[in-house]
This record gives sequence, C-alpha cells and structure tokens, in this order.
Amino acid sequence: MTESHDDMPANPSGNRPFDAVLRIRLSRREVLGGGLAAAAAFLAPGALRATASASKGDLIGFTPVAVADGGGPRPAISPDYDFQVLVPWGDPLQPGGPAFRWPPNAADQAKQIGIGHDGLNFFPIDGANNHGLLVLNHEFGRNSHVLGKRTPASRDDVRVSQHAHGVSVVAIRRVDGRWLTVASPFARRIHVNTPVTFSGPAADHPLLRTESSDPPRGTLNNCACGTTPWGTYLTCEENFQGYFGATRPWQASEAEARYGLRAKGFGYGWEVFDPRFDLAHPDHANEANRFGWVVEIDPFAPDSAPVKRTALGRFKHEGAAVTEGRDGRLVAYMADDQAFEYLYKFVSDDDWRTMRDRGESPLDHGRLYVARFNDDGRGDWLELTLANPALADRFGSQAEVLVHARIAADLLGATPMDRPEWTSVAPDGRVYCALTNNRARRAPDAANPLAPNPDGHIIRWRDADDHLGTTFTWDIFLVAQDTHGTEATFSDPDGVWADPDGRLFILTDGGQQAGLNNQLLVADTATGEVRRLLTGVPGCEVTGIATTPDRRTAFVNLQHPGNGDPNKSTFPSTQPGAVPRDATIVLWRKDGGIVGS
Ligand code: FEO
Ligand code: CA
Ligand code: CA
Repeated sequence: MTESHDDMPANPSGNRPFDAVLRIRLSRREVLGGGLAAAAAFLAPGALRATASASKGDLIGFTPVAVADGGGPRPAISPDYDFQVLVPWGDPLQPGGPAFRWPPNAADQAKQIGIGHDGLNFFPIDGANNHGLLVLNHEFGRNSHVLGKRTPASRDDVRVSQHAHGVSVVAIRRVDGRWLTVASPFARRIHVNTPVTFSGPAADHPLLRTESSDPPRGTLNNCACGTTPWGTYLTCEENFQGYFGATRPWQASEAEARYGLRAKGFGYGWEVFDPRFDLAHPDHANEANRFGWVVEIDPFAPDSAPVKRTALGRFKHEGAAVTEGRDGRLVAYMADDQAFEYLYKFVSDDDWRTMRDRGESPLDHGRLYVARFNDDGRGDWLELTLANPALADRFGSQAEVLVHARIAADLLGATPMDRPEWTSVAPDGRVYCALTNNRARRAPDAANPLAPNPDGHIIRWRDADDHLGTTFTWDIFLVAQDTHGTEATFSDPDGVWADPDGRLFILTDGGQQAGLNNQLLVADTATGEVRRLLTGVPGCEVTGIATTPDRRTAFVNLQHPGNGDPNKSTFPSTQPGAVPRDATIVLWRKDGGIVGS
C-alpha cells in the first residue's frame, strides 16, 4: 500500500535508543574502510554515490531497462525478457465463471480474482514448472476503483468491497508458451466473510471474543506473504485498522490508539452497513483484535479454514520470511509496516518435523522477539514474554502480550524503524529488510541514518547461532538516495526477495526519480550492483514476487495501476477509458535462463 496509509506514526513510546547523530554507522564495511569521516560524509546528500553499477559481476547479465524507457504508459522490460498478463482483478477464478463487469456484484466478485494484488506464491502441482496453484493476496481496493463511488450505498456495496479483499487460490498452467487459468478443485476465494479459526496462546482469550458470539470470519489487507516448509501459505494482515470506523461518538482506548484505530478509518464506510466493523457497536467491541495476524492457508485443502496463528503476534504484518534454524527449528522474520515500528522474529520450540509428528503446529509453540539495533553494528532480540519483568508488570497473560505486541515491544525498548516492509532470508543466512521511507523521522540513529528519510534503505543482519541466537550483527546494504542520478535510480524499496544465488530482487512502492514508474530491480548482494528488470505503469505499485521451482518463470504484481483512475492508466486494457485492473505479470528470459540473470 502506498505510504499515505502507512506513514502516520502511531508509536508514542519515545523509544530512541540512539540520540547522537555523529555516532552514525553507515555499514561495517564502510566504517572499516573509511571510518567515521566516511560515515559522516554520508549525511551530505549525494556525498557518497551509489555502489550501484560500480562493479560488474556475472550474476546479473541482463540488459537493464534504461531510465528513459521506464516511465511510459505500458510496462517496460529488459530486452532479454518477455512477459504476459495473468489473473487481472475480476477475471473468473475458474474457466466458465462470471466474467469481469464493472462495477462487479457481490456474488460474482466472490468467484472472481480479487483486487490489490500483493504477495504471492507458486505451489507446483506434482513438482511441475508449468502447472500449479498461484496463491495471491488482495491487499486493498478503494471504493472509487471497485464500486465507482466513494462510499457504499448499501450492504451489497460493502459485500462487493469485502469480496474483493482477501486471497485467491487459482490454478494456472502454461500451454504453448502462454499461462492460462485452468479448472481445479483447489481454486477458491478467501475474503472478509470466510470462516477462519484461531490457534496458539491467544486463541481462546476473551480479547478475541465479541459479545455477538459470532465465530471469527475473514482476513483483510493481505499484504506480503510467506510459505512454510510443509507447503502452506502465510498471508499477512497489514492495515486492518483502516476498515473499522465508528457510527457514533467513540473514544479509542490506549491499545486501540496504539494500533491506529480511528473513528474515521480509511473511509471504506463498511461500518455503516456491517456492524462488525463499527467500533462503537457494543456487540463487536473486540472485532479489531481479530485482525493483524499471520494467517495460514493450506492451498491443497480447499475445505480447510484459514488459521490465524497468534503466537506470531498482532501488529500490522507486512510479511513472514520463514527459514529453518539449527536443530530444525522454524524461524520467521516479520515486519510491522508503519513509521517507527519494529522488526520481529518467531522461533518454534522444537524441530518443526518433530512438532508436526506430535500433531502440533510449529507456528503455535515458540518464542516471539523484537529487534533492538545497537549503534555498534550489533543487535539484540528481546523476548516478548512474561518472564521479562517489564511485561509481567503490565500484562496478565502471554495472550495479552501477543494481542498487544506493539505495546509489549515499546516496553522492551525495541528500535523504531523507517517503515519495515518485506523481509527475506538469503542463502548465506543474512536477512534483508526494506525500510521503505519515513518522512516523519527527525532524529537519525545508526540503523535509520536519514532524518527525514523520504526514499528508504535496505538493512540486513545475521543472527548468531544459525537464526536461533538472541544477538545479531547488521549493516546497511543500500541507501536508495545513493542511487539517485545513476541509471540504477530507485526509491521506496518495499518488496525484497533474496534468491538462492545471491541476487536480491527489489520492488518499489512510491515516487521514483526521473519520471520512472514503480519498478523491479535486481541487486548483486556481493557487489551492490543494481539493474532495472521491469517498470510498471503510471500510478501502480510493483509488488509480490514468486517463481516456479526451476526459477525460469517469475510472477510479479502490478497493484492499483493508475491508482484506479482510467485517466492515468487503463492497464492491462489498451481501450481509452477502460477501468484499470490490478494484474500479475508473468516474466521469463527469452533464452530460458534463470530469472534475474
Ligand atoms: Fe502493504 Fe507495507 O505494504
Ligand atoms: Ca509500501
Ligand atoms: Ca508492501
């Protein structure tokens, strides 16, 4: 989602572990190489030009899209690559299903691809590289785009909007070089009214119950994602607070304010026709506590309910980068995307295989940590548990800690970051996180060295003890401003994906330099070289990346082309005045090589 919804700080904790500008630490490499003088020079705009393009390795061989070619009305791609459009918003989920009509009706939209394409994954069927399930998030769609009006006029309008959110599971196959949607018993839509269940320490807590005694339903603002080693999909609920509003005078509690709940919400107006989203309705007082979770979906069990895994904490979840630590323990890195929010890590109690053999979910039993970045290039994972006296004084149970993870993290002195978005674990064990921007930052610290930080940076760290340790070392991989004025210019990194060969794919969401549309770039993590692989269309965000197992095909999303305005973009249609539709771009190297090479 673009920054307008995410950059309003809700963190009043005043956590500022570092206060001295001159203690800036750009990166261990550069401090070692140039000392503090180089680090201080970094503060002068443009003082250190990009390492981008400075050295050329073999990892990224494609001819990049030139800056001059990256601002047109249609996507631009490297001449070494080709692409097609797949599963635009409103396409039928199965062949023969309801075709796109605008505006859609609620019944049709529940059987069509949603809007706001974001995180996604390709689950191969029988290991195939040409046949599988594409599971994709539908983060958001403004009423003006989905309904053609600013506010809903009926409960039916609200249902259309709700059905456009959530997740799609759609079967796709490559036939004669083109990817198509195909019929499948696995295809399904999960949206705001789909039954869900809760598991983990907070599952049965009163904070997750409402007076209405309605069972929990729905997932929304599904942003980035993750996958588990046992083949399930994790969809992450980000700006859930914006869908709630109050129909009567209403005052946020401290906890509600900490999660950004406001009487006005984002203006979706759901609360007018659906009391579940009315903050002032006594029957639904805890409904907002049911959102802000990581939700597990089994794509190959179409009758299974999505499961909200409370052990991973409640915040504005951007994504969940899952890896396996020492002894087979499952580790998930997660970001809370808002200005001055935190980075989190979950570690399962035991080897994930053993736990599953016991009939336990590795996502239900484990420890949640929040990150503190120290100014010497080291950091600490602070455990969010009642064993910590600071939390035992405030909370009565671990369930309360998890439901109010942000408040618990405040109390431990976690480091407020510049809007952490996607995280990704590289094969060398480093974890990358895009810090997209923070215009509200007034005081820099070592990990967030620009104040304000309008263009963002990418930080990376390595945990001690093969992902299990409570300490880590970190440095800054790229500062977006350093690329400005070069052919590799980019701003507002949002999606990141570290591939098995040492490439980092970077997807942007925000105003780019030199008239560029939002873009997909590929960085060499060893040299810092950056090349532009694809640019989107005016007004769109480029987000979501996944590949087939052989990495010869990639899937990338163009979200909100034209910001939903046909005057700015009609993508993917070329008809003047056509309503733009979020869509997946399938891309591949013309010579059949690895994507990114
Ligand atoms: Fe949904 Fe923070 O991007
Ligand atoms: Ca973003
Ligand atoms: Ca994002």
